[in-house]
Amino acid sequence: MSSTAQKQNAIYSGVPWYDDQGNIVSAHGANIVKEKDRYYLFGERHTDTSNAFAGFNCYSSIDLYNWKFESIALPVQATGKLDRNGVGERPKVMQCPATGEYIMYMHADTMGYIIPYVGYAVAEKITGPYIFQGPLLLNGKPVKKWDMGTFQDEDGTGYILLHGGDIYKLSNDYKSISEQTCKAFEKGFESPAIFKKDSLYYFLGSDLTGWERNDNYYFTATSLNGPWTKRGLIAPPGTLTWNSQTTFVLPIKGSEETHYIFMGDRWSFPKQASAATYIWQPLTVKGYDIAIPEYEGAWSIDLSTGRISSQKIKPGKLIAADKLNGYLGNWVQGALSTMSSDEKNASFSFTAKATQIGFYGLARPDGGYAGITIKNSKGEIILTGTVDMYAKYQMVGLKYLSPVLKKDTYTITITVLGERWYWKNKKGDLSGSKGDMVSIARIVMI
Ligand code: GAL
Repeated sequence: MSSTAQKQNAIYSGVPWYDDQGNIVSAHGANIVKEKDRYYLFGERHTDTSNAFAGFNCYSSIDLYNWKFESIALPVQATGKLDRNGVGERPKVMQCPATGEYIMYMHADTMGYIIPYVGYAVAEKITGPYIFQGPLLLNGKPVKKWDMGTFQDEDGTGYILLHGGDIYKLSNDYKSISEQTCKAFEKGFESPAIFKKDSLYYFLGSDLTGWERNDNYYFTATSLNGPWTKRGLIAPPGTLTWNSQTTFVLPIKGSEETHYIFMGDRWSFPKQASAATYIWQPLTVKGYDIAIPEYEGAWSIDLSTGRISSQKIKPGKLIAADKLNGYLGNWVQGALSTMSSDEKNASFSFTAKATQIGFYGLARPDGGYAGITIKNSKGEIILTGTVDMYAKYQMVGLKYLSPVLKKDTYTITITVLGERWYWKNKKGDLSGSKGDMVSIARIVMI
């Protein structure tokens, strides 16, 4: 949107991100490839209605904070496995050193997740178009597994990672599998991701709970063949990996420091397009130990030196929700200065001079969806969004922050949508929120 100035100065986890066109960034199950000084983000393009394949998006950025929409790198196919009745997840792109081509790998499946395989697509340019080739073959046969990832070793060899811990080595042209490097060694262990520091490999993954979060864990080994040693959790126990699921680890090698960015997804079915968010956190790596000890709501990284810092939103710009007027419908005052409502269409509006406006909320087991609109001083709606107020445990956090806007008087309206996150897995088990509650804790203005 033209009224957004697009200059975020930090990585904000757990809030919807807007791209250069004012649309929500939809790139889940992602990976990042760096080319020259640009970072290319590939991920699942979602809708707010179902998990049917809707394409894979490509965005690019020079700072990891502001994302430019590049392309639908792989669109919905007219026929075949990735048509509008298929499922396509966890796209991962690597450039093949032997051919210079860009190869995208993905989990291709049927709706209902019954007949999976690892598929691939090929492009001449990093932004695509990627041409879908069907299944990746090992001895002429597809690899019939679901959650996948990729890893490119320092010598340029490419690997496919699969749930359970299978690792497959790619052929020279990256278009088939030459051999199995490691056999599955763990039950579950979805969303596989590997990174390497010095001579140690770290293998991260999640438990098997569908779109619901769990405490993700990791293994280490000195060779991709294994043996892999289980080391423990990635984040403090019970935080459910700060409410996220691993998708990729991005190393940033600066002139002074090297850091590893944990990239996770906070899913939100069915509103995966608007309300699923990104949990990107600095990962500390010391010997066999990796950790995300604290949740960094906002942090920045100098990509040339590699130095990172936390960014605290300036106090004094925060106003407790129970000190404000502007509530319509039935709202109840609660602990932590919250105002809460689960009455459909109940709303709260707040007007202020600002360049950024947003709110902190209390995520909770009965949290539902909140609709967001931002109007300018002329009363025009300049931004809309959806926020998921669910978490398995109560946690106050930043739930929405507008992009940097032109200086003006803005009105933010938060509306209770009377809907919630839920998911039924293939066994028929239901997970998700138990209510439609929206709890506002503080309004933030910058
Ligand atoms: C998760 C998996 C996701 C998606 C989801 C569907 O376990 O990691 O990629 O497939 O299940 O339920």
